[in-house]
Amino acid sequence: MSELAKLTLGTKALDLPVHDGSIGPQVIDIRKLYSQTGAFTFDPGFTSTASCESAITYIDGDAGVLLHRGYPIDQLADHSSFMEVAYLLTEGELPTKEELDRFTYTITRHTMVHEQLMQFFRGFRRDAHPMSIMCGVVGALSAFYHDSTDIDDPKQRMIASHRLIAKMPTIAAMAYKYSIGQPFIYPDNALSYTGNFLNMTFAVPAEPYVVDPVIERAMDKIFILHADHEQNASTSTVRLAGSSGANPFACIAAGIACLWGPAHGGANEAALNMLREIGRPERIPDYIARAKDKDDPFRLMGFGHRVYKNYDPRAKVMQQTANEVLAKLGVTDPIFDVARELEHIALNDPYFIDKKLYPNVDFYSGIILSAIGFPTSMFTALFALARTVGWVAQWNEMIGDPEQKIGRPRQLYTGAAMRDYVPIANR
Ligand code: CMC
Repeated sequence: MSELAKLTLGTKALDLPVHDGSIGPQVIDIRKLYSQTGAFTFDPGFTSTASCESAITYIDGDAGVLLHRGYPIDQLADHSSFMEVAYLLTEGELPTKEELDRFTYTITRHTMVHEQLMQFFRGFRRDAHPMSIMCGVVGALSAFYHDSTDIDDPKQRMIASHRLIAKMPTIAAMAYKYSIGQPFIYPDNALSYTGNFLNMTFAVPAEPYVVDPVIERAMDKIFILHADHEQNASTSTVRLAGSSGANPFACIAAGIACLWGPAHGGANEAALNMLREIGRPERIPDYIARAKDKDDPFRLMGFGHRVYKNYDPRAKVMQQTANEVLAKLGVTDPIFDVARELEHIALNDPYFIDKKLYPNVDFYSGIILSAIGFPTSMFTALFALARTVGWVAQWNEMIGDPEQKIGRPRQLYTGAAMRDYVPIANR
């Protein structure tokens, strides 16, 4: 604590402690504000509120910086693997070779799901959205793995964390297989985390499937780029659900539900659907005009970010990966021309420049996933798969925080003041 912030409210004067993080803005500690002044703060959308203390991820939105445990995201995307990033986020340091091998082995041993959980899938309609299946099935894990739901036992917390990271690819692949009427493919522990996911998604029992190393690496990068992102909406949801003492499977299911929305993880699906709707580069100006029109709720999906007001550092890596994947696969879909042209026009349009609206990670990820062969409905499920690592890391950090309390915001009440009940005959 370096200095005090002074607040005057009517006749009351208050000194508020100011905290310095290791980097980043100062934080004014208002925890005693209500008890000392009787006033609340008002910050819908939490644009100026730090909801917790965390040592996992740092974002400087103006400079376009994203660090995991201090390491820049572009370095991790270029040199690391998703398993290594998962270790870094959950354990706090980059692993030695031996630590990484042990972690990967542990995760690999948890990839199968309880055989009875498969029956669960049959209860869904075939055309169910994969995210609806993910919400349900991940929540149901707490009904299958009772031996890892005691949040006061560190060992159980660790096992639940490993189970969630390990089973998410299996569940996501099963959601996909179910939707297209193909048999589920069991995990193959000889494959990498990402290779195994591709195999469970695209293999069929009738013929061999070989994982393409370029696609495997691209997919692994997509997972790295989505692994964690500080106190975003879904992570805050996981923390809030966990703050009441709910079990980890229920908390992650809550995170999945929040991620689904088009302003958050659902943007990758919405962005590609928008590109399809635009269809041809000649139609782009109409959509740009709609995005600028104050009376039209339409937004360019995959553009803009609450925190990044310069550029999204994940989008830079993703753009490069998109180029690599499109070149390797030789795909010629007109939506990729629409995407390139839209990116060019928006980056040069004063409306987007003035409002600091740049393509975000979801703009490019959808293009890559589509080229690989995923239907748009799977995009957000893949985001959930990767973000599970961040959710689990943040949930564990919260449980271990001695300052942790149940999350319970207050409100600015604008409803009716107290009044007497009126019998129905007199209304
Ligand atoms: N297209 C057109 N105008 C936009 C867009 C857009 N995509 N995004 C923001 N604006 C305008 C908005 O109309 C507002 O204008 P004005 O000041 O004239 O009212 C201004 O820019 C600021 O927007 P805001 O809604 O106050 O900003 P926010 O920080 O609350 O919203 C956002 C951030 C990501 C929800 C928003 O930019 C958006 O809806 N983008 C499209 C959805 C999207 O791509 N989401 C993925 C985010 S990245 C991955 C993730 O977090 O999951």
